[in-house]
Amino acid sequence: MTFTPGDKARQILERDSEVMSPSYTRGYPFVMGRGKGAEVWDVDGKRFLDFTTGIAVTATGHAHPAVVKAIQEQAEKFIHMSGTDFYYEIQVELAEKLSAIAPFGGEPAMVFFTNSGTEAIEAALKLARYHTGRPQYVAFMGAFHGRTMGALSMTGSKSVQRRGFFPTVPGVTHVPYADAFRPILNTEGFSDYGERVVDYLENTVMRQIVPAQEVAAVLVESIQGEGGYVVPTPGFFPALRDLCNRHGILLIVDEVQAGMGRTGKWWGIEHFGVEPDIVVSAKGLASGMPLGAMIARRPLMTWTPGAHASTFGGNPVCCAAALATIKLLEDGLIENAAEMGTLLMGKLRELQIRYPFIGDVRGRGLMIGLDFVADPQTRKPDRDCRDAVVDTAFHEGLLLLGAGLSTIRVIPPLNVTEDAINEAIAILDKVLLKVAHQYHPHVVREYGA
Ligand SMILES: Cc1ncc(COP(=O)(O)O)c(C=O)c1O
Repeated sequence: MTFTPGDKARQILERDSEVMSPSYTRGYPFVMGRGKGAEVWDVDGKRFLDFTTGIAVTATGHAHPAVVKAIQEQAEKFIHMSGTDFYYEIQVELAEKLSAIAPFGGEPAMVFFTNSGTEAIEAALKLARYHTGRPQYVAFMGAFHGRTMGALSMTGSKSVQRRGFFPTVPGVTHVPYADAFRPILNTEGFSDYGERVVDYLENTVMRQIVPAQEVAAVLVESIQGEGGYVVPTPGFFPALRDLCNRHGILLIVDEVQAGMGRTGKWWGIEHFGVEPDIVVSAKGLASGMPLGAMIARRPLMTWTPGAHASTFGGNPVCCAAALATIKLLEDGLIENAAEMGTLLMGKLRELQIRYPFIGDVRGRGLMIGLDFVADPQTRKPDRDCRDAVVDTAFHEGLLLLGAGLSTIRVIPPLNVTEDAINEAIAILDKVLLKVAHQYHPHVVREYGA
């Protein structure tokens, strides 16, 4: 089956091309009509399985009744009162909740609310400078932290995101991420590539370029998202934490994509046994309502009234959606993410055996990446093949999104069912076979795929 947009979709696509900024990266013409759980229908009524969750946002699935109810009830009370100048209980309640679940080993936290991930990153960068009085930052190649000027300056994922916008904010040094699948540094003498990266940061970069005592913070994703769903090696975070401790550097972990239960734990960083100083959350936090949070250990929040604020940040309707989301996560969705993640990962690994141009299946919980390679030995990224899989999947009724050079992210809602997973895997199997005929015909011969 090949899908062509219906009349309504075509009209909207045409109108869109006239008035919407051309900077967006739409890969295929899906025009959303409505959604329920892991299913969506386009404006002409065609059904798709949504394994994108609007880029890891609709954590509780589309239009979860408990989230919808919380939004409706709060909207009837009041929609806005600006947490900058006034108080309202629902914001305090959410901050209390986030403080309790923050991965600070039980140490109390304080929260600054924003409308997006990028703004929450800005808040973290500003707090780190304010609190430490130091000017420099360290970030990672492959990182994505957002598009506002500070966050963009820390981003190192794709040069198209930075092209045309220089000069970025000064004082940022990028070093390789702990990507053992495609290491940039030589690994001689190190059994853990992440430890090698931290050694390079401390003994090369900090000795030759940026003195450690000038560095306010290291900003890092617990698992890289936009950069290609890259899981760091086990030694990376412990070594990084140790380096930060020894030099009085704050460790800011960006959990915008990996946080809020997606990996089968509250935060991605919990998989690595390390407690950061600041955590940044957004995306799944409010199941699709625009909300970000910068959560810091309480002693770090030394800035004074007027130092930072936001008109809309911590909007009460968004806070209500976040509290409903957290309740659903506590009541079983994190557990489901872990369980369904294991099931999905196993099925994707079975597909990898039949289609070895999937060079890597990696991730935690329901944050899974499929990395497409031209050759399993060289691991050369195969972007064209990846794009063909995403496009063909759309035509077969499965929504997927790319990440990095050659990766597909598989990110269903945290309440995804085994039936939906089986349906997605059946579609993907069909899609991979089609794409194999075109891009890797020897695989079809060899494996009878
Ligand atoms: C890890 C990470 N940080 C920050 C951001 C920026 O979030 P937003 O698009 O809400 O500004 C994103 C968005 O994709 C992200 O994946």
